[in-house]
Amino acid sequence: MTSYVVARYDTADALGSGDVPVLATPRLIAWLEAATVTALTDLGDDDTSVGTRVNVEHLMASPLGASVEATADLVHRDGRLCRFAVAAHHDVGDGPVLIAHGEITRVIVGRERFIQRSTPDLIIRPALPQEWDAVGDLCAVAYSAGSGLSSDTDFYLHTLRDVAARTVECDVLVAYAEGELVGSVTIVRPGASFADVAREGEVEFRFMAVAPHAWGRGIGLALVQEVMARAGTSPVVCSVLEGNEPAARLYVRAGLVPVPPRDHSPGPGIRLRAFSTAP
Ligand SMILES: CC(C)(COP(=O)(O)OP(=O)(O)OC[C@H]1O[C@@H](n2cnc3c(N)ncnc32)[C@H](O)[C@@H]1OP(=O)(O)O)[C@@H](O)C(=O)NCCC(=O)NCCS
Repeated sequence: MTSYVVARYDTADALGSGDVPVLATPRLIAWLEAATVTALTDLGDDDTSVGTRVNVEHLMASPLGASVEATADLVHRDGRLCRFAVAAHHDVGDGPVLIAHGEITRVIVGRERFIQRSTPDLIIRPALPQEWDAVGDLCAVAYSAGSGLSSDTDFYLHTLRDVAARTVECDVLVAYAEGELVGSVTIVRPGASFADVAREGEVEFRFMAVAPHAWGRGIGLALVQEVMARAGTSPVVCSVLEGNEPAARLYVRAGLVPVPPRDHSPGPGIRLRAFSTAP
């Protein structure tokens, strides 16, 4: 049994699970789950348990300042599967009153193996709107530190930062390593005005950027490979500013080849080399 006092940060309005200042259901569930962890006393040193099922009825609201006791009893064990009967009582001055009861299931797992299997080295997924500013900053920082900027630096930095503008016609992907935003690439949809070199049927990627402190860890390669996977059987194309050898080497390593006839010049003094998976 564990005891708590309902505080400001435990309420539904604080946790966002509602808008009233009483004990939030998710906080109560967390306390009940904590009770199940405490009730599992005979785990091996390398083992831990994870919650897999929660079936709880929250019967009564608990105000700020109420004391709450959460209890769990192991009622069934089948190998690694453990089922607990859980209950919570609050006291607002009239003695203990039942506020919740139900059942929680946990499974015993090897701690290290579980963490390893649930934690990929790199997560690559579409960017969310709330990440656009950070993606823009990352692109600007990476291009400034690398050789991806042309002589018209100001204009291009503005373009790099304006992630919202490219999401209208493109798919912006982000890469996370250990919870940190470390890379991004933009896939240009067919027919989009953002296309630099893509012809009909080709998939182009642009704005490839990896945070400078994460260079050389294969994140750029993983981003190109993700673009290729999403392109399916369509040829993948891109352009590289002449002289940007790290990017050119990366694309060749990923399986693209230079296509000199498709090199182009979007402005005075700017020469872009074209690369494709299907020259
Ligand atoms: C170009 C860019 C995207 C490359 O990103 P990256 O994550 O460093 O790329 P990778 O790690 O896959 O590859 C880079 C180098 O690290 C090496 N590398 C990759 N994984 C490695 C590892 N695990 N251990 C050691 N080296 C590794 C690669 O062999 C490669 O070496 P090379 O350049 O000598 O061939 C990055 O430098 C960048 O953001 N530059 C600025 C913006 C830019 O120029 N964008 C491209 C515009 S077209």
